[in-house]
Amino acid sequence: MHPYSEAYYRRELQRMSAVRPMVLGSLVVSRESGPRPGDGYMYVETRRTMLRDVPVLRLDGEVWMSLTPMEVQSTFMAIQLAHGRVGTAGLGLGYFVQRALEKPEVESVIVYELNDDVLQLYRRTFGVHPKLELHHANARLLEGEQWDFFYADFYRHLLTPQAIDDMAALSSANLIGSYHWWSIEQTVLEALHAGLADRLPRWMLDAYLPFLRLFAQHARSRTVQLFGCGAALVEELERHGLGRRNSFVQA
Ligand SMILES: C[S@@+](CC[C@H](N)C(=O)[O-])C[C@H]1O[C@@H](n2cnc3c(N)ncnc32)[C@H](O)[C@@H]1O
Repeated sequence: MHPYSEAYYRRELQRMSAVRPMVLGSLVVSRESGPRPGDGYMYVETRRTMLRDVPVLRLDGEVWMSLTPMEVQSTFMAIQLAHGRVGTAGLGLGYFVQRALEKPEVESVIVYELNDDVLQLYRRTFGVHPKLELHHANARLLEGEQWDFFYADFYRHLLTPQAIDDMAALSSANLIGSYHWWSIEQTVLEALHAGLADRLPRWMLDAYLPFLRLFAQHARSRTVQLFGCGAALVEELERHGLGRRNSFVQA
């Protein structure tokens, strides 16, 4: 199903129906309704429809995860690519984890989450699963681990250069088959827009151009949202030896 379709979004929202309003320490989960946000994933949303009963996670009063169309669209590729022994940080509402656990090609999901209340929320909402391990840990300190696929989503903002620093550090301290960070598709789009596709590593183009083609079909009648940071992101990749010439990660 198309990740930008309304049917896909409704199905994903339905899949998270177990998430109930809850307060745990500094964590607050609510279910909220309101006008559809103006941000889609990589496009500007102009439809004026309402969203209903959307799970929202706040930590210390700040929104860390909510199941808006943008979050669902931007998690699509992580779910698609997950296979084998999957590592992920952080847990949030557990949306990615729930979806990855459903996949037969996923053997196990090992979660690293900084906030113990978030781990409690997951246990209370979804219980245990034979393929799942939950760890209370700072993802930036992980070393000596091994995963076929690692999904880094411990960010509040899209396109943070910190995600590239984290990839470089985690990839040199651990053995990782393929690495995906939240909003990597938009990193590729920004680099293409800046005319710098030839400086991206081959694995990034192979993995994400198919998604960008899907996006282009959807975006035809919409405004694409670009931040113009392609050159800075490509330079950040190159600074860490992750550019085309020195790429050491192969998908
Ligand atoms: C955006 S949410 C993750 C959403 C999740 N992918 C989902 O599908 O629901 C980010 C999570 O990362 C956690 N986090 C932040 N910094 C972290 C770190 N250094 N190590 C591990 N987890 C961290 C936060 O507590 C939060 O639960």
